[in-house]
Amino acid sequence: MKRLADAINQMARLSATRLSTLAADRNRLAAIFTGMVEGVIDVDQRQQILHINDAAAALLSISREGAIGKPLWQAVRDQNIVSALDEALRSGSVIKTRIAFLKGRTELALELYVASLMDDQNEPIGAILVLHDVTELKHLERIRTDFVANASHELKTPITAIRGLSETVVDDDSVDRATLMSFMERIHAQSIRLSQLVVDLMTISRLEADHGESNFAIINMVELVARAITAAGPAAEASQLTLVWQLPAAALEVYGDRQNLSQLVDNLIDNAIKYTRADGRVELRLLQSEGDLVLEVEDSGIGISPQHLERVFERFYRVDKARSQSLGGTGLGLSIVRNIAERHNGTVAARSQVGKGSVFTFRMPLAATQAR
Ligand SMILES: Nc1ncnc2c1ncn2[C@@H]1O[C@H](COP(=O)(O)OP(=O)(O)OP(=O)(O)O)[C@@H](O)[C@H]1O
Ligand SMILES: [Mg+2]
Repeated sequence: MKRLADAINQMARLSATRLSTLAADRNRLAAIFTGMVEGVIDVDQRQQILHINDAAAALLSISREGAIGKPLWQAVRDQNIVSALDEALRSGSVIKTRIAFLKGRTELALELYVASLMDDQNEPIGAILVLHDVTELKHLERIRTDFVANASHELKTPITAIRGLSETVVDDDSVDRATLMSFMERIHAQSIRLSQLVVDLMTISRLEADHGESNFAIINMVELVARAITAAGPAAEASQLTLVWQLPAAALEVYGDRQNLSQLVDNLIDNAIKYTRADGRVELRLLQSEGDLVLEVEDSGIGISPQHLERVFERFYRVDKARSQSLGGTGLGLSIVRNIAERHNGTVAARSQVGKGSVFTFRMPLAATQAR
């Protein structure tokens, strides 16, 4: 009798611990379910919603409480989701698809997984739907494919020119020296264009790959800008432009990547010179304002009309394609400038008046401000 009582007691103790483990497991699962970034919906064999987490309710703009107990097709009025569930339940397999979902006025790209669920006797007991918002990802994919298409097109132009010019020379042995020289000059110019393009593309890929601050150091921007001005002297002179500058006497220090910042300054100066006619003026001002470093590059050039002004920072965007191209431009300079500015917690902005000139302003925190 005593042994029987002991055995019963032991069983009771065991099942009590088992029950509490079960309850703990259950709570844990519920917490995971609620906390998931992905939207998750659990339906039974009759497609009635048993569980739906906050993420799914938010994605589909429906109320969680209102949806539970309703059939999916009634709670979620989206044909794509409903048919994916039908298909999964019918075939007993996993459906994976990407759908466009209209949320209010915005179209979301959703990745949808639907897996039918079986019990341990292999009987169907419903399905689980997982929704993943890939709208941002799709947008980035689009930018990337556009970029590759644009880059290939830009590379093709000089390559085609070089090929055509050199073939003409090779095919025609009676070509005179003057023509030959003019062809060679054009080939030379195109090859420079090609190598500039490749350098820009490499810069972009380096900027994209390198998100950290591995090459960051304290840099005196007064010195860096002074060097850029010296380097730009010959180009300004060749274009008959007056190059003037205002630099502070004391150092202005920032924490950044020297090579990147040089390139940012060079690109702004390069544009100011390129898009200003002879006898014009280019002015650089470096100053300090409320803990920020401010660089202004002003020119008295052709200017940019308002509808183009915001877009000039886009990759490959050129106001006047023919003009920019004849000056060796590919439309990557300002997109690189913006990328570098953002990498340094900075901004770049432009204001301009057609026919009067433009001012490009770069701003970033001074090292002293950032350390605080
Ligand atoms: N200072 C400026 N004055 C007038 N237009 C400008 C100026 N800077 C840029 N732009 C316009 O913005 C466009 C984009 O400039 P961006 O520097 O990105 O390209 P790019 O100069 O054409 O080529 P790249 O810099 O790649 O050699 C230029 O094609 C030009 O139309
Ligand atoms: Mg440029």
